[in-house]
Amino acid sequence: NNPVNVAFLPAGKKINIPWGTTLIKAANEAGVEVDAVCGGKGTCGKCRAKVIEGAISEATRSEADRLSLEELKNGYVLLCQRRILGDVVLETLPSLARQESNGSTKGKIIDAALEVAPLISKTYHELSRPTIKDQVADLERILNRLPRETRAGVRLLSQVPDVLREAGYCVTSVVQEGELIALEKGNTVSEMYGIAVDVGTTSVAGYLVDLARGKVTASVSAANRQRAHGADVVSRITYIMEDDKGLAELQKLIAQTIDEIVGKLLQQSGVPAEHIYVLTLIGNTVMSHLLLGVTPVGVASAPFVPAFSGSVRGAVADLGIKSLPAYTRFVLLPNVAGYVGSDTIGVILATKIYNLPGTWLAIDIGTNGEVVLASGNRLLTCSTAAGPAFEGACISQGMRAEPGAISQVRMENDVEITVIGDAEPVGICGSGLIDAVSEMIRLGIVKSSGRIKSPEDLPPGFPAALIRRIKQNGNGNKFILAEGEREVSITQSDINELQLGKGAVRAGIEILLTELDLKPSDLDGILLAGAFGSNLRPASLKGIGMLPDVPLSSIKPVGNAAGTGAILALLSKRQMEVALSLPRRIEHVELSLHHGFQRAFARGLSFEVKK
Ligand code: FES
Repeated sequence: NNPVNVAFLPAGKKINIPWGTTLIKAANEAGVEVDAVCGGKGTCGKCRAKVIEGAISEATRSEADRLSLEELKNGYVLLCQRRILGDVVLETLPSLARQESNGSTKGKIIDAALEVAPLISKTYHELSRPTIKDQVADLERILNRLPRETRAGVRLLSQVPDVLREAGYCVTSVVQEGELIALEKGNTVSEMYGIAVDVGTTSVAGYLVDLARGKVTASVSAANRQRAHGADVVSRITYIMEDDKGLAELQKLIAQTIDEIVGKLLQQSGVPAEHIYVLTLIGNTVMSHLLLGVTPVGVASAPFVPAFSGSVRGAVADLGIKSLPAYTRFVLLPNVAGYVGSDTIGVILATKIYNLPGTWLAIDIGTNGEVVLASGNRLLTCSTAAGPAFEGACISQGMRAEPGAISQVRMENDVEITVIGDAEPVGICGSGLIDAVSEMIRLGIVKSSGRIKSPEDLPPGFPAALIRRIKQNGNGNKFILAEGEREVSITQSDINELQLGKGAVRAGIEILLTELDLKPSDLDGILLAGAFGSNLRPASLKGIGMLPDVPLSSIKPVGNAAGTGAILALLSKRQMEVALSLPRRIEHVELSLHHGFQRAFARGLSFEVKK
């Protein structure tokens, strides 16, 4: 069982690892990004790579199903399926996960009406020097200038004498919620930053916020490194249940992702790490647990009890975040219930849906879909298993919104596609899929059951260019969107995946409305949150029947509202208080236990076909 060497191209990363380890484990440990949508079960086929040389175990059945003969002959493997039997050199494909900054909030004052009063305060002091008549101790010399109840930790105390003397008694104090956390030489009051982090199941977004000026200075995103253990929260929980070290591993991966985010933010802005004093963190319930290294297993099955739901605070060092000073604090916003986490609190805070007159829905579309209904004084939430279909994960040729992805589709007499980066199409992202299916429904190519019709089922006079794109594929049909070097098509199972996702969201919406005795026509508007949700065309979301029939003008994309909520909580104590009080106001509806859910879901699955 001698260790063997594994080298990954083009990253140039190498690792020495025990004989018999799986290739996917080697990739994870070497820090090579791999899309492991199914968490290594061999069912998604997304972890493919090419073996250049070396000894590995035999091909498995899953590979025979997921890879073409041509690919197998050329040395392609699924990383999760093979074990290392000798030194190996591999070439990995570009990850579909990389998603760079959307920059949408950069430089913007988030909310003009917001009173900027951050969680941190900095004050400059010109202190008198001690004399034989003034023997006040160093620490008290500073504390005497601060509100009476301010305290200081041991770690800081050891630095106080030197800082005071080296700075000639001209220092800046940094206080967070009654604690003196840092003491800086000279006047640094204008250098005060915090970071808001939205920990998504798929990707993590970070915003560097200038707390002195109330502005977002930089924003970036990175793939959540936990993706190596599955695309959705359920596969991450399964990993924890099956592997004793799983929880620690997932906690470490999220800390590393945050370190990556911090690194990119500092590099982009030129702000030194020493001036970052506080992080606000939001995420769904499972992500919140994993971030703290707390098991989320209780959330996975009835009675769906999380380990904690309130806000948690501490030092970032306790989370294993290494890129920030030991004095930097974090505040994890509270969760609501079940799968509805602090990211939904962020959406509610940013949209102020609780204050809007009338009746409003907010839908945060990501790997999970959270729905919020606000009407009068009532505020209801639920979480739906939107499934990764909207993000392209379970779709046969699904990919992220990256160069080569078909992102928009129109159909009339033929198909018109838009490809990101003006590249050759190689796959389809969520917005392209939803556009395409919406068009297929509108033109009658798809039945209300979701079946793709066969050419002979289409009426006389139907455009021939569209008919010839329908081809038989296994037990059903497929519809070809692009015929270039690589054919990109939508299969029957892709449509079924989308149907499950949209059916779940639609059922969630219907149930919340019935809980308040309301009808879709009572809605004043629908807010579409989520960086991803904002890229979807409202008309297409209506076209596939995910949204109820409301006028298009009342559907408003609001960007990454969850992230904006985390920024607001960072900038304003008042907003933080609202965030902390929201869980008491919210009525959570657990869909899986709701008597009407199965029927609403069955109704939600159907497409409303016009022709
Ligand atoms: Fe390997 Fe899904 S097939 S991770």
